[in-house]
Amino acid sequence: MKTMQQLLLLLTAASSAGGIPLSRAPPSNKLLLVSFDGFRWDYDQDVDTPHLDQLGRDGVKAKYITPPMLTMTSPSHFTTVSGRWVEDHEVVHNMMFDAKTNLKVSHRETLTRSEWWDNGVLPLWITAQNQGLKTGSFYFPGGAANYSGQAVNRVVVEDPKPPNETEWRQNIDTVMSWFSDEDFHLVTLYYGEPDRVGHAKGPDHQDRKTIIRQIDRTIGYLREAIARHQLNDSLNVIITSDHGMTTVKKRPQVEELVLNKYLNLLKLASFEILDYGGFGILTPRPGKEQEVFNALSKAPNLTVYKKNELPESFHLAKSERLPPIVVVADLGFNLNSRLIFYVNKGDHGFHNGEMDMKTIFRAFGPDFKKNFVSEPFDSIHIYPLMCKVLQIEPAPHNGSLAVTQNLLHSGGGQRAPRSVCLLLSLLSLLCTFTLL
Ligand SMILES: *[C@@H]1O[C@H](CO)[C@@H](O)[C@H](O)[C@H]1NC(C)=O
Ligand SMILES: *[C@@H]1O[C@H](CO)[C@@H](O)[C@H](O)[C@H]1NC(C)=O
Ligand SMILES: *[C@@H]1O[C@H](CO)[C@@H](O)[C@H](O)[C@H]1NC(C)=O
Ligand SMILES: *[C@@H]1O[C@H](CO)[C@@H](O)[C@H](O)[C@H]1NC(C)=O
Ligand SMILES: *[C@@H]1O[C@H](CO)[C@@H](O)[C@H](O)[C@H]1NC(C)=O
Ligand SMILES: [Zn+2]
Repeated sequence: MKTMQQLLLLLTAASSAGGIPLSRAPPSNKLLLVSFDGFRWDYDQDVDTPHLDQLGRDGVKAKYITPPMLTMTSPSHFTTVSGRWVEDHEVVHNMMFDAKTNLKVSHRETLTRSEWWDNGVLPLWITAQNQGLKTGSFYFPGGAANYSGQAVNRVVVEDPKPPNETEWRQNIDTVMSWFSDEDFHLVTLYYGEPDRVGHAKGPDHQDRKTIIRQIDRTIGYLREAIARHQLNDSLNVIITSDHGMTTVKKRPQVEELVLNKYLNLLKLASFEILDYGGFGILTPRPGKEQEVFNALSKAPNLTVYKKNELPESFHLAKSERLPPIVVVADLGFNLNSRLIFYVNKGDHGFHNGEMDMKTIFRAFGPDFKKNFVSEPFDSIHIYPLMCKVLQIEPAPHNGSLAVTQNLLHSGGGQRAPRSVCLLLSLLSLLCTFTLL
């Protein structure tokens, strides 16, 4: 009888010669996370969407999902890919800012500024890479930053352009080839619609419906591309978004808000980001905090908070970056500072309890149930679900797999951890050799 050592030598030789493959752990299924920015939960209900409807039959659909408080693009996307509340990951605005120096950096420029994104919380890409998976980010917010010095394996930085269906399809082809030709395990793919049209025209405009039809065709194209790349049985897909959209209330329907009517901004505040939808932040000048708070408390159609008194359910109070005063407007009221810019007809940033801020969740693929409608849940629970599907150990997070695992087949993502599988397959190979 051969010794263990000889057997192992034989095994190594066989595998390196390519004769008998040294079976690796059965790889987990792959995962594509797609986000269509600003896709309100009910946008598919007044438009014909055959492909989304088919997805409902072939996969799972949540009635809607709730984004974290701070219903804005970067904060919400980063909660989805990290499973952490905004107060922990500290991406507290679309714009990078420093209240001390008055620095403000546009959303687009923040995409490649690691210092805005990297605050000690590791997003899914990095956690997956640290466990041996290959990951990519196509346009996805946060994907182009480095985290503790680590970059996502493959990154395409968003280049905002008018929506172009041909380009949308090319982006899908690119991502599919990453999966099928280069063996990527996780890719996140982002589209800037229907957010752009929702802002420009308002959620009720015909153009929003036109974009939803384009998105629906794109989802049909995605499914064709998956089949063409023979990924039907190995690729799971989650389609979601970051927040909804509501119509901006204007005169004569309402008296619009102009905060400078209630407090002298120049005199009382040393830093502000207003004129940015329903969410505003202010740093009072030294000793003026109570005065600012009192003045804004008298303003109608908004709620003002001292940071340390923010409701716990917002999960914002612990943030070090947020300035001392936070203002949340009532649904549809924009927080104008001094003038009213008649640019946006739709906006977000409002309370995440408002139905207009709720967004979508769909998923399909080998690990997901079919024809299953889920009750609503918070987007923070997507993170542990993704880790489960990828069979990786999650980083510390605030989600709960108990909330989302009913979306999976009872077998879905249930395989033994990689290390156990590797051991088992080694053992079975050893047995085979011993029997020979
Ligand atoms: C990420 O790190 C690499 C290597 O250190 C560097 O070349 C690159 O500029 C960094 N990117 C960002 C967005 O910080
Ligand atoms: C749309 O994108 C394709 C592929 O990138 C390009 O060839 C075409 O010119 C674009 N169309 C418009 C109208 O920009
Ligand atoms: C893959 O899925 C598509 C539906 O998206 C289906 O039309 C096609 O027949 C499937 N292909 C295989 C090989 O199962
Ligand atoms: C806005 O505030 C005014 C003044 O308090 C109030 O009369 C009005 O009903 C509010 N509008 C809405 C839509 O809540
Ligand atoms: C969120 O998770 C982090 C990491 O485990 C933890 O430190 C923090 O206390 C959690 N937040 C809440 C509100 O539970
Ligand atoms: Zn957004």
